[in-house]
Amino acid sequence: MAKVLLLNGSPHPKGCTATALMEMIPVFSSAGIETELIQVGNKDIRGCVSCGSCGKTGKCVFDDLVNEVAAKFETADGLVVGSPVYYGSPNGTILAFMDRLFYSTPFSKHLKVGAAVVSARRGGNTASFDVLNKYFTISGMPVASSTYWNQVHGFTAEDVKKDLEGLQTMRNLARNMSFLIKAIADAREKYGLPEVEHGAFTSFPDGK
Ligand SMILES: Cc1cc2nc3c(=O)[nH]c(=O)nc-3n(C[C@H](O)[C@H](O)[C@H](O)COP(=O)(O)O)c2cc1C
Repeated sequence: MAKVLLLNGSPHPKGCTATALMEMIPVFSSAGIETELIQVGNKDIRGCVSCGSCGKTGKCVFDDLVNEVAAKFETADGLVVGSPVYYGSPNGTILAFMDRLFYSTPFSKHLKVGAAVVSARRGGNTASFDVLNKYFTISGMPVASSTYWNQVHGFTAEDVKKDLEGLQTMRNLARNMSFLIKAIADAREKYGLPEVEHGAFTSFPDGK
């Protein structure tokens, strides 16, 4: 059975971001896709210290929720990351988590499907959405889309429940993401996965 992990970057397990993520779960279930919602934002997650240990051991030197989720991410077919907007960006905890999750894991994320969901009272949604999508698009992960950018508005969960278009956007996102996951599984059987080149690691146009 295909599986999607949903990360809640908010410190509030029943807040606005959670309300948006939970709107997606019944849609995944009705598409026959298993889900797991993981609460990240109320944990003590420190940032990457660029120690390079993960390059040798295949896991983060700080043995916390990042390493637990890494094992689940390796076998998952899709990842949804949800974040509240703090000063026009994703919140600090989810950024620390995503930096370490993506940098420390040696397995291929190629053609796992990604989606970012953001919640703001008023502004900074699209800038935050862009930041989160960059983890997927550097990793060969197709990004699922919806009928608007994946955002809800509110200061409380009750506000978000009144954001009917925001919730509709979440349901359509889950439908499109389910379809993509199934389509990629079928295409993998039919065509195999596309080749990925590695090796070039340049910072300047002349390659030095
Ligand atoms: C430190 C902090 C900064 C915030 N900055 C913004 C902001 O830049 N724009 C905005 O619209 N809301 C901002 N908010 C409000 C939250 O993003 C908003 O209420 C969000 O929906 C809360 O989601 P949650 O209930 O999942 O935590 C901020 C809240 C906090 C605590």
